[in-house]
Amino acid sequence: MDFKMSIARCVEGALEKQFTQSPMTADEIAPFLEVPPDTAMGDYAFPCFRLAKSLRKAPPAIADALRDAIDEKFLARIDSVKGYLNFYINRATYAREVLEKAEKEGGDYGSRDIGGGATVCIDYSSINIAKRFHIGHLSSTMIGNALSRIYRFLGYNVESINHLGDWGTQFGKMICAYKKWGDRQVVEKGGVDEMVKLYVRFERESADDGELQQQGRDWFKKIEQGDPEALEIFDWFKSVTLKDAERVYDILGVKFDSYAGESFYNDKMDPVVEELDKKGLLTESDGAKIVNLEDYNMPPCLILKKDGATLYATRDLAAAFYRKKTYDFAKCLYVVAYQQDLHFRQLFKVIELMGYDWYKDMEHVSFGMVSYEGETLSTRKGHIVYLEDLLNEAVKKARDIIDEKSPDLENKDEVARQVGVGAMVFFDLYNNRIKDIDFYWDRALNFDGETAPYVQYTHARCSSVLRKAGDEITQEPDYEALADAEAQDVVRLIERFPEIVVSAMERNEPSLITRFTIDLAQAYNKFYYERRILDDDAGVRSARLKLTTIVKTVLARALYLIGVEAPERM
Ligand code: ARG
Repeated sequence: MDFKMSIARCVEGALEKQFTQSPMTADEIAPFLEVPPDTAMGDYAFPCFRLAKSLRKAPPAIADALRDAIDEKFLARIDSVKGYLNFYINRATYAREVLEKAEKEGGDYGSRDIGGGATVCIDYSSINIAKRFHIGHLSSTMIGNALSRIYRFLGYNVESINHLGDWGTQFGKMICAYKKWGDRQVVEKGGVDEMVKLYVRFERESADDGELQQQGRDWFKKIEQGDPEALEIFDWFKSVTLKDAERVYDILGVKFDSYAGESFYNDKMDPVVEELDKKGLLTESDGAKIVNLEDYNMPPCLILKKDGATLYATRDLAAAFYRKKTYDFAKCLYVVAYQQDLHFRQLFKVIELMGYDWYKDMEHVSFGMVSYEGETLSTRKGHIVYLEDLLNEAVKKARDIIDEKSPDLENKDEVARQVGVGAMVFFDLYNNRIKDIDFYWDRALNFDGETAPYVQYTHARCSSVLRKAGDEITQEPDYEALADAEAQDVVRLIERFPEIVVSAMERNEPSLITRFTIDLAQAYNKFYYERRILDDDAGVRSARLKLTTIVKTVLARALYLIGVEAPERM
């Protein structure tokens, strides 16, 4: 229930009743409703001063007149004090309204059909072939996964796209290296690691070997020309990489609808380049073809190299047109690190210049860097921390903590997986996505911090309370028992959940939900410590149990939306 709007409507009605006509509509009144610093002065206050002029009356007289004209069951009391109307919400009614609505909607509470089935393309994770998944990919994967879930929850059809980095001269070098020194079985078994080794060896041995470099280029040309042997090896590199990546996606519970990556657009760029040319956007610069973006304070967007080779941007242009045509998207999101900011600004600008107004529906959802235990991750310096190793370590560390805290827990392995993986995901999604992240184990796994284990523990606590109570809540809840400050804080957060999900979608910011889970868990724990849930009075017990049930449902749902599991026991 939106109290602000309801009160505003009451005020409008009272104005009409007492003064035949209201000088303000409810929509205009709502922004003037204040929340007094102290609940002793009411839950909301309306200053009548601004009405004095149009009504030609003193504010205290207006306040008195309005007070006498309002009679609403959700309001416990209205005071007229020195020109202010102070509204006291009937807390029991409030708690009942919020909890009954949440209970009725169950796991769908917070879901709304905003999208009406419109499609949102979300380009995320988008890993590179023959390279290992590292922690830098975690952000893209987890933000993208959370956004997919949030958009679906709000009635959108989501097309999740892993725009593979599967094009470039390095693949020629890799095939060359593989032909010279590689062994199918070894690569099959060792996966991406073995491919990386081959590539590193090629770089080393070709450093002052022009002949070898040329062979690398020749193999790339073969891929481009569709040579069957080159393509066979290349496709196999791809499947080996994806097999490795899928292990990580499985651990994280992530799925993609499409793996159409850079090479998918090989035969789809010509029409785009032609159209750019026809529209007079293509200019020549040192033999290369570019779109000049000087007027927009950006360096030119490179479309074709001197030798006619296409570029990353050319492929992204073709991909944008393909997606528009195939999915007719309402939005197309690119979850990619902020280093590619310029690339996307150029891409969107070029589409705008081509005259398509759907460039407005595309958005670069950028995010900051992750450093790991104080070290930034850079492939070049060799500080690559591999995501799979990290996830395994997280699970192991979680297992150690669980062994210590809950030695009798039954399915320890399963819970350790949920907690360890959840801790990493949560940590990544806790801050505003554009912020850089310093990852530290002790912070991510702190059971008393602002972490997944803390929220998961609270969820398990709710389950445990409910188990102790037995499943049935037979007695009619006495909602007066939820009028205290602790319970009211919990109720207020439950009421806010739907609007938080919507903001997270509108701003493409899953961290709003992550933070919400902390707020709700903290509020519930405070309530848990201050109030006896299994009270002797059946009505009181029933009300507190109902609150517990709904906190459990909402926590589980909120965690799901950010891609974190919620164990029943911990
Ligand atoms: N593969 C790229 C990288 O790892 C990210 C691709 C993002 N998506 C896109 N459509 N450009 O940097």
